[in-house]
Amino acid sequence: MSNAKLSGEVYYPSKEILEKAHIKDWDELNEYATNNNEAFWEEKANELHWFEKWNKVLDDSDKPFYKWFVGGKTNIAYNCLDIHIKTSRRNKLALIWEGENGEGKTMSYFALHREACKFGNVLKSLGVKKGDRVTIYMGRIPEIVIAMLACARVGAIHSVVYGGFSVESLAERIEDSNSRVLIVSDGAYQRGKIVPLKQIADEALQRCGTVEHCVVVKRTGAEVNMEFGRDMWYNELMNLPQASRECSLEQMDAEDPLFILYTSGTTGKPKAILHTHGGYMVGTYTSLKYVFDIQEEDRYWCAADPGWITGHSYIVYGPLLTGTTSFMYEGAPNFPYPNRWWAMIEKYGINILYTAPTAIRGLMRFGESWVNRHDLSSLRLLGSVGEPINPEAWKWYHRVVGKEKCPIMDTWWQTETGMFMITPLPCVPLKPGSGTKPFPGIVMDVVDEKGKSVKANEEGYLVIKTPWPAMIRTVWKDPERYVQQYWSKYPGVYLTGDSVRRDEDGYYWIIGRVDDVIKVSGYRLGTAEIESALVSHSAVAEAAAIGLPHEVKGNAIYAYVILKAGAVKTNTLTEELRQHVSHEVGPIAKPEHIEIVDSLPKTRSGKIMRRVLKARALGQDPGNISTLEE
Ligand code: PRX
Repeated sequence: MSNAKLSGEVYYPSKEILEKAHIKDWDELNEYATNNNEAFWEEKANELHWFEKWNKVLDDSDKPFYKWFVGGKTNIAYNCLDIHIKTSRRNKLALIWEGENGEGKTMSYFALHREACKFGNVLKSLGVKKGDRVTIYMGRIPEIVIAMLACARVGAIHSVVYGGFSVESLAERIEDSNSRVLIVSDGAYQRGKIVPLKQIADEALQRCGTVEHCVVVKRTGAEVNMEFGRDMWYNELMNLPQASRECSLEQMDAEDPLFILYTSGTTGKPKAILHTHGGYMVGTYTSLKYVFDIQEEDRYWCAADPGWITGHSYIVYGPLLTGTTSFMYEGAPNFPYPNRWWAMIEKYGINILYTAPTAIRGLMRFGESWVNRHDLSSLRLLGSVGEPINPEAWKWYHRVVGKEKCPIMDTWWQTETGMFMITPLPCVPLKPGSGTKPFPGIVMDVVDEKGKSVKANEEGYLVIKTPWPAMIRTVWKDPERYVQQYWSKYPGVYLTGDSVRRDEDGYYWIIGRVDDVIKVSGYRLGTAEIESALVSHSAVAEAAAIGLPHEVKGNAIYAYVILKAGAVKTNTLTEELRQHVSHEVGPIAKPEHIEIVDSLPKTRSGKIMRRVLKARALGQDPGNISTLEE
């Protein structure tokens, strides 16, 4: 970074960090990657294995349907596993896992490759072919990684549904993706209890009719219903002769789909974001290597869930592509005591911890002494993702966890971007609460309603002006929605849906979503999902959901409902409605508070004005209400 004096509170990288860093000069790399963008990405792609090289790095002839590494043939699973077992990494640990109940498991690259091959053969024996969709619904256990890699190996498109989602969310995603196979675990441990994933799946399968085979991983030993002809135990299938250790691999076109991942959009139902084998692989590999400065001896822990994009890119694919050792923990951060995380960092000698502000704020509440009991000297780098990190939490993380020697990589990105987009590298001076600057070579801007760049420190819409390899390719089965949602407000420019401020040093400060997406504890939810769950209850006629600031969760959901004529307003009704949302969408979507009202503020065309509800709840001026119905 140039030596220009930066404004505000700045944390400069130490000599030790700089010495180790892959990239020592951000400006130099950024200049090169910006001016030679295709060459930059081509060089990175060349660090990975391709069965056939591309004939064009970027094809932008059909914008915004960009194509990367056109004509190239590869397979991300090959780059995650096969290439390593041909080297000295063969017996290196790929995965260290700890269950919430204290059980543990480790898998070398050799072992993970073997299991993924065996399960790939299981999938083939169930008739899964290239391009078929497979839904995966599990807790944080090694089998989720095996299942994803097995899908990639045989060319199937995985659709992982987060284990915190419930019946309707799962049913909707299975149906929309038309999955014939579902892979589920009997349950998952969370805070000492068992989340009955198979039971939830059974209920979901009653609502959608596409699944022919359901593979069940035994994790908790909970009693489950096994439907004859449909349900099969993972362990039994893996022991059959057809689950052999040799599994032929599909050579995938760079642009062939790798996975779809459902996420909440600006409006309507969750939509499936599509990522590919080629570009996504190059993007996640490069970004992880540079941002978390992966070194051969590292033990890296991304504490997200594989069911979200953070887990896809930075628990599964990125870490395996870089050949690092990834740590995965099944349960809650404060179970059974608030030192669980710190104890595991000490026990396993974790070097890099990547988590969300909500977790940091949650653990902060228990006080420093829980952290200070443990030797955290193995830590070198810290990371944050999912929502803005308030400077107070940043400083606590930096001082108490990182002992003032670990830079914090505050990475801004999205399901759609596939990879880090605004992020420091270890060599970049940090300002608490800012993700600093775009990843080298990525061009972003802050614009007003008309698309004009705003001045320094003014709030505006965050947009991305150049394509990048790991970008969303389309919305599954809905290319129009892809164009409409991301590329139509400012033609040719990608709209992120976030508002942001850029300071005089070019540092970005994310403010939050400007649409109907609510980030609760870093989880992305849509007002539409919560509202449709509420109106699916027999007592509710209309509903509106908003997000209000919350000290730990970032945002908490508040919902307003109008009851149907004749519905009885019992004392327990609002609690029943909260439980109903939890049952339909998932515990993460359970409103903090529900208020029964007689009317909702609407525009003359009938659209709920959530902005007005929010202002009212916060005791603020609702602003322009000229379109309000009455
Ligand atoms: O609002 C931004 C917020 O999370 C949104 C994307 O959510 P999702 O697709 O679930 O991906 C989350 C993990 C990559 C963004 O539009 N967001 C993500 N990271 C940050 C953030 N807000 C502020 N700072 C971040 N570091």
